[in-house]
Amino acid sequence: MRPAPALRPSSVSRVLVRRRVPGSRRHVSQRAPRSVAELLQWRPAENADDVVVHGFVRSVRSMKTHRFVSLGDGSSLAPLQALVQASHAETEGLTVGAAVRLTGSWVASPGAGQSHELHVGKVEVLGPSDAKTFPIQKKYQTPEYLRTMPHLRPRTPVNAVLLRLRSEAIASLTQFLAGRSFTQTHPPIITSSDCEGAGEVFTVTPVNHTPDHDEPFFRSQKYLTVSTQLHLEALAQAVGNVWTLSPVFRAERSDTSRHLSEFYMLEAEMSFVDRLDPIMDLAEDMLRSLSTSLAGSATVQDLLSRSRNSGSDLAPADEVRRRWEGLAARDWPRITYSDAVALLRQRADRFAHEPTWGAGLQSEHERYLAEHVGGGGGKPVFVTHYPRDIKAFYMRETEPAASPGVPGGATVDCFDLLVPEFCEIAGGSMREHRLGPLLDVMRRQGILRPPGFEGEGDAGPDRPSAGGLEWYVDLRRWGCPPHGGFGLGFDRLLSYLAGVQTVRDMVSFPRWHGRCDC
Ligand code: 4AD
Ligand code: MG
Repeated sequence: MRPAPALRPSSVSRVLVRRRVPGSRRHVSQRAPRSVAELLQWRPAENADDVVVHGFVRSVRSMKTHRFVSLGDGSSLAPLQALVQASHAETEGLTVGAAVRLTGSWVASPGAGQSHELHVGKVEVLGPSDAKTFPIQKKYQTPEYLRTMPHLRPRTPVNAVLLRLRSEAIASLTQFLAGRSFTQTHPPIITSSDCEGAGEVFTVTPVNHTPDHDEPFFRSQKYLTVSTQLHLEALAQAVGNVWTLSPVFRAERSDTSRHLSEFYMLEAEMSFVDRLDPIMDLAEDMLRSLSTSLAGSATVQDLLSRSRNSGSDLAPADEVRRRWEGLAARDWPRITYSDAVALLRQRADRFAHEPTWGAGLQSEHERYLAEHVGGGGGKPVFVTHYPRDIKAFYMRETEPAASPGVPGGATVDCFDLLVPEFCEIAGGSMREHRLGPLLDVMRRQGILRPPGFEGEGDAGPDRPSAGGLEWYVDLRRWGCPPHGGFGLGFDRLLSYLAGVQTVRDMVSFPRWHGRCDC
């Protein structure tokens, strides 16, 4: 890993120096507020006056003649140390949680903790805080307890790092996909269908709707999207390769560390592609680029260099480093579902659920594959070609010649991307782009109903109903090239890279079954 880039002294002095008085020891001066992170990296040879910093008081240590104030502003895990004379008129307002502006001299510190400290001349308390009732404490607080106050939790130093990681990851991914000429799009949140067919959609209804009297607001039942894929497919037929980072919603009752009811999914759709490999290549290149571009950032260094007792529940820093390195490594293993099941069956005694061709992989199976097929180097693992019957209707069936000797039956051209602990972080497939085969699968899965069927959808009396997917079928009628794509669970990815043990602690305002606090 590259070390965090230090601010170059030349650029710092260009920005910060306001006045120079040759011959004087206290002669560097600046007024614009600097972030705590910038100040911690700034190590001027001479003292600097009129340094301004905004932040929140993390703790106060009172000595006889002065107070040590530990100040954070979300820009770094480490706080800034400020020294305030006990006689200062405003010291009473320097309470834990208070929002303050401190002005003073940035001077070399005699203490071991940090190279410089702020000798405060002026204290302005801009947002007072009653420290006795402020629920965020410097001492260890359990994730469960912090989750009970999602509106205050982001102020803890670790949660601020997570917010910055998310922001930097979005910037990096946006840059990567723009570099590959993908068009960023905004598919809708309110949709007509359950894309994954898993029955996990939330419905959208006005608050004052009375089902016995009122027509549905949109004439027929509508839902919050579970995946933007189907709409992305329509857009890909207009502009080629497309992507989006969108909130999606699933009424899943799974009480696990990996499931949320509202989460972000990065979805990409590639047009004029007729094999699965280029789609896996894109996912792999994209995540490798993310890892290498962010590895040197101060935020990632905060995550990787934190001490064991930094008072958080993050996975050990060594483990997190291995994850970043695994993502940066080349040639991630690709194994078919059939080979994976055969491998798992050789170790069947380790599992509570017997690995069986035709059944979905349990998380214990996925965990084993992620840890063992990857060769221990932390590389993610692609598992491909799952059975037709356990995957979504839109996936293209594998040509028999491409899967010789498959024991169980038909498979589809799809993949799941697995990592240790979080298991599946992305899933993708080739889409069935031919009208006939798509209608066949939809018929077999009961999505397509005969004409006159009373149900959802906009088909009309003389056309078969496709459960609100008539428009999706239409895409196959006019110029539908082979295409495919994937969806990446963005919150799972970030949790994995940050070492956060549950997605509930990765997201500022998490929603899961039974919980939507504010
Ligand atoms: O595997 P999924 O269901 O795939 C799709 O929705 C496809 N239509 C995507 C596509 O091809 N464009 O979901 C994609 C990813 C999963 O791999 C998982 O990482 C994440 O979304 N995911 C969840 N993350 C948090 N909470 C949940 N409840 C999740 N369900 C899926
Ligand atoms: Mg999936």
